[in-house]
Amino acid sequence: MQAVRPASGHLSACALTRLARGDLDVTGYRVGVIRGDGTGPEVVAEGLKVLEAVRDGFDVELVEFDLGADRYLRTGEVLPDEDLDGLKACDAILLSAVGDPRVRPGILERDLLLRIRFELDQYVNLRPVVRYPGVQTLVPSHAETDVDLVVVRENSEGLYSGAGGFHRKGTAHEVAVQSSINTRHGVERIVRYAFELATTRRNGLTLVHKTNVLTFAGDLYQRVVDEVGTEYPNVVRDYVHVDAACIYLLDQPSRFDVIVTDNMFGDIITDLGAMIQGGMGIAAGGNINPEGVSMFEPIGGTAPDHAGKGTINPLAAIGATEMLLRQLGETDAAARIDAGIRFACTKVASMRAAEMGYSTAEVGDLVVEGSRT
Ligand code: IPM
Ligand code: MN
Repeated sequence: MQAVRPASGHLSACALTRLARGDLDVTGYRVGVIRGDGTGPEVVAEGLKVLEAVRDGFDVELVEFDLGADRYLRTGEVLPDEDLDGLKACDAILLSAVGDPRVRPGILERDLLLRIRFELDQYVNLRPVVRYPGVQTLVPSHAETDVDLVVVRENSEGLYSGAGGFHRKGTAHEVAVQSSINTRHGVERIVRYAFELATTRRNGLTLVHKTNVLTFAGDLYQRVVDEVGTEYPNVVRDYVHVDAACIYLLDQPSRFDVIVTDNMFGDIITDLGAMIQGGMGIAAGGNINPEGVSMFEPIGGTAPDHAGKGTINPLAAIGATEMLLRQLGETDAAARIDAGIRFACTKVASMRAAEMGYSTAEVGDLVVEGSRT
């Protein structure tokens, strides 16, 4: 097998370190895999099947991480330091989803998923919203080409920073404070990422916020967009309040190219985004540290009702694998996955679990078949 091509210019920080050490000649990419809970293992298996089928000219070493509900219930551990160090030593990470009805909500979300995002400083949550030809959605008025946008969700601060606390907890006078932290550094780096991305697309950037009510955080975002925007004269800037953005996503999705927004708004509007692209079964995303280790995931949950039945849609996990390869600079392999997903979308009856007309593994096979054409 050929070595990683150092000339790609898109090697991750980890790969560059190994290149400098001189041990990149045989290793290729080290990809961390978190198979996760519920249907997670089934969809990741299809992502890896497709990865193996399109891999050409580079090696991939899979590093398995036993993280999620089973590990927690077995050992009480959520993310031990050695696992965190192991994740940091990867070139990229493929995660399915974590969460299980047996585990109190919040534990795995906060201490595993969000902790990885924060510790690896994956400050960009990149969520493409693309409707592939042949995919049905709940919005019959959309033309297939109307839905082609990317949400750049800030992924390291805002309401997710965990700042806050209780006062007089459990009393009639209880106070609960949950603060949205927005730093100039954090806002500027996400806004810059969004402008750069816009220049590679249709040169449109929309800030989505709530500046009429969140007059401090919104003001910072708007000022940064205006300032950074002067460096990108070809990018057309727009602003939409988050509530109105929900209307436009349904009513006029083609008005959006790149959306930049804060962590909480980005979380909410990307579920709506998933629905206008065909549902959670097809929605993939990346937690990106452009200078470090990024992690890719289907944005839906673990669908415990479907676990072990072969009925879950793996396309979102396969799309996450495509994004992972793109981030590593393996654009040819990524493009082959894209072709495979498009092919599969013309075959499956529905994006919904158990309604695809194919099993989970058969959908993966369709993608492999389409990737070869
Ligand atoms: C997502 C999820 C997570 C989030 C949860 C599971 C913590 O909803 O990736 O969109 O809120 O970011
Ligand atoms: Mn979410």
